[in-house]
Amino acid sequence: MKSEAAGLFGVTRLPRSIVFGPRRRDSLGSIAAEIGRRAFICTDARLGADVEFQTMMLDLRAAGLAIEIHDGTQVDLPTTDIEACVAAAREFRPDLIIGIGGGSCMDMAKIVGLMLAHGGELADYYGELKVPGPILPLIAIPTTAGTGSEVSPIAVISDAARGTKIGISSPHLIPQVALCDPELTSSCPPRLTASSGADAFTHAIEAFTSVIRPSDPMSAQTSVAVGKNEISDQFARLAVSNLWCGLRRAYHDGRDARAREQVMMGALAAGCAFGTAGVAAAHALQYPVGAMTHTAHGDGVASLMPYVMQFNLPARTAAFAELADVIGLGGVGGEAERAQAFIDAIADLFAEIGIPPTLAALGLKPDQVDEVARLAMASPRLVNNNPRPLDLDAMLRISRAAFDGDRASLAV
Ligand SMILES: NC(=O)c1ccc[n+]([C@@H]2O[C@H](COP(=O)([O-])OP(=O)(O)OC[C@H]3O[C@@H](n4cnc5c(N)ncnc54)[C@H](O)[C@@H]3O)[C@@H](O)[C@H]2O)c1
Ligand SMILES: [Fe+2]
Repeated sequence: MKSEAAGLFGVTRLPRSIVFGPRRRDSLGSIAAEIGRRAFICTDARLGADVEFQTMMLDLRAAGLAIEIHDGTQVDLPTTDIEACVAAAREFRPDLIIGIGGGSCMDMAKIVGLMLAHGGELADYYGELKVPGPILPLIAIPTTAGTGSEVSPIAVISDAARGTKIGISSPHLIPQVALCDPELTSSCPPRLTASSGADAFTHAIEAFTSVIRPSDPMSAQTSVAVGKNEISDQFARLAVSNLWCGLRRAYHDGRDARAREQVMMGALAAGCAFGTAGVAAAHALQYPVGAMTHTAHGDGVASLMPYVMQFNLPARTAAFAELADVIGLGGVGGEAERAQAFIDAIADLFAEIGIPPTLAALGLKPDQVDEVARLAMASPRLVNNNPRPLDLDAMLRISRAAFDGDRASLAV
């Protein structure tokens, strides 16, 4: 029995507050003082030296908080760096963690909150639902518009020993407060704007087209990602409309404040969508692609997305047609034409903002293509969340088409 037959189905898990808007960063001290007295701040060297960041730290002090700053966060969170940060935090004994920066800094804050609350080894928590209870309260402040980590139940790290990125996924990791100030993204250069914004786009599309699970009254207890549902769909529509309006403009003119707002709203809404619905094949394929090519997560998922959409089209024609209406392509032809028009429009947008159009352009080697498909099958959480069933043959078709730039081969 499908969920349509089981009646309306919806799940959401979100921060206690989401505060969004220009200059909202000025409320940090006041918000933090409601939660704790000793704040440990996770950021990186770039932001640590930034005048806006210093102002926010002064605000925290003026609000009566003692603070300790860790500005050594490395991109993609290597485990070795995590250990040093957790040790420093332990010594400081905070009652509040603040992550400010891109996804890497916010994920670092989640890890610190987790390790200080529960101890043990980081690897104890790899995978889904391994976190035994609440972590330290967290405020997440994004400076990229992309990952949605400010609202998501996930932290992604790079485990050097395993040679791969790995996720820790639990509703306990959701920050207590997401403080989103789009002005903090005005310094993002075009390449970062494109790759993080395209990552957000894939979150929204993969969530909106994810699997519809047979009705299982326990699904929200037994898995973090529960598939397409009424509440996540609403966030996904909000994300797609904002990203469509803003991403192209934010890429071409980083000073376009309205575009920056739209892209950050899109990334936030996409995080709210995929945090419960989950993501699927594009993310499963990106993990090995990223490890082999050392390219940004956003570039990889966005490069794959048009091919994954083309493969999924027969299983989600109505959903893609609905997204065509959301971005204003509606009224042109029937459902199948509108669905294809949406896929083509996203492929064109990604090409315009410099996303590599094929896995070859991303730097993958011909002899790695089949291995990518095999390794992607090792993420059952993502594979099983795809709307069209995926076996190894299907995954090989997608990865070969994405390598060759041959979307037409998937249009059957
Ligand atoms: N937790 C989640 O739900 C989730 C979801 C998707 C991705 N991720 C993870 O997040 C990480 C990627 O995050 P990201 O794309 O935000 O980038 P990032 O945090 O890795 O940062 C990338 C670079 O951008 C710089 N940067 C950040 N903000 C800037 C700004 N305003 N101006 C100029 N430079 C700026 C950083 O200093 C850094 O050099 C990856 O580790 C990825 O796996 C997490
Ligand atoms: Fe992503």
